[in-house]
Amino acid sequence: MGKRIGILTSGGDCPGLNAVIRGVAKASYHLMPDIEIIGIQDGYRGLIHGEYKTMKKSDFSGILTLGGTILGTSRQPFKLMRVIGEDNVDKVKNMKANYKAMKLDGLLILGGNGTHKTAALLAEEGLNVIGLPKTIDNDLYGTDVTFGFHSALDIATDCIDKIHTTATSHGRVMVVELMGNKSGWLTLNAGVAGGADAILLPEIPYDLEKVAKVMDQRAEKGKAFSIIAVAEGAMDLQEAKMKRKERLAARKAAGYSSVGAKLAAELEQLTGNETRLVLPGHIQRGGSPSAYDRVLSTQFGAYAARLIQQNIYGVGVAMVDGKVTHHPLKDIAGKSKLVQPDDPLVLCAKDLGIVFGD
Ligand code: F6P
Repeated sequence: MGKRIGILTSGGDCPGLNAVIRGVAKASYHLMPDIEIIGIQDGYRGLIHGEYKTMKKSDFSGILTLGGTILGTSRQPFKLMRVIGEDNVDKVKNMKANYKAMKLDGLLILGGNGTHKTAALLAEEGLNVIGLPKTIDNDLYGTDVTFGFHSALDIATDCIDKIHTTATSHGRVMVVELMGNKSGWLTLNAGVAGGADAILLPEIPYDLEKVAKVMDQRAEKGKAFSIIAVAEGAMDLQEAKMKRKERLAARKAAGYSSVGAKLAAELEQLTGNETRLVLPGHIQRGGSPSAYDRVLSTQFGAYAARLIQQNIYGVGVAMVDGKVTHHPLKDIAGKSKLVQPDDPLVLCAKDLGIVFGD
């Protein structure tokens, strides 16, 4: 009898999920022709509630370029996994029972930080799991790059490019708020790629006065417009002293819906420059994966099939120094890869005169 493997996608979606699913399936059918693949619906939710189906080979056809995930996804917070709520469902017990009911030899889990924490929990509980590194935030520990990041980066850069022309015409300050709550990799890279004048990241709290100076310096050079790329999780020096909940509440009380809204209003008041906020939002997670992500996702998927063939479980797939590899889940789960203030790209941007507000 051939192997039976399950696959699920968890957390925020991104371009490349289907490309990984296809990579796993194609390589698995090629390496292990008897393999059966079970698709679990809507991430851990489907595993908890027993929503799954046996996939056909044809289900994996034509999905390389398709955005989103054919399996559906959901957010199931790690911190609640061992908590029995009002529905009286023991999530961990159910996941183990459904894994058994599906008669799985292994389970592939595509997701980011929270997803990997639950994957490590399931490995501890004795399930054969393999994690695959997904997130547009690129903040998963142990891998140089996650799939989805480059597609989002292309979209975010295109957005800054488009903002450039209208900013120039009107001589305005444009604040472009990009995704990234805890980590600013997307904003850092898109800011550099799009030629932003200031880049504000969650990892580097900013001084408003220093950001405002950018406009004055540019005005002196005869440039009437400025572009500021700000990550949704960025904060000013005052806010950095607060806990996250406190910070969000203080912003809300002041009538600001986000850091970008606060920044745009404060900059306009301080500098007198007409300022606009642009929020690309979930557009950054939409559409087809970029060529880079298609290649990366295919490599990750094929590598996971090899791991299944060799019965290697309890690991997360990663890209390290240009090579696909794997790490024990217990070594990577619960850690994040954040932008360090002395990251080479931060230093390079500073050499160009890009302001980080520190
Ligand atoms: O983790 C990916 C991400 O896109 C973050 O950058 C963002 O903060 C979050 O997901 C948004 O989540 P949701 O889609 O649940 O609003």
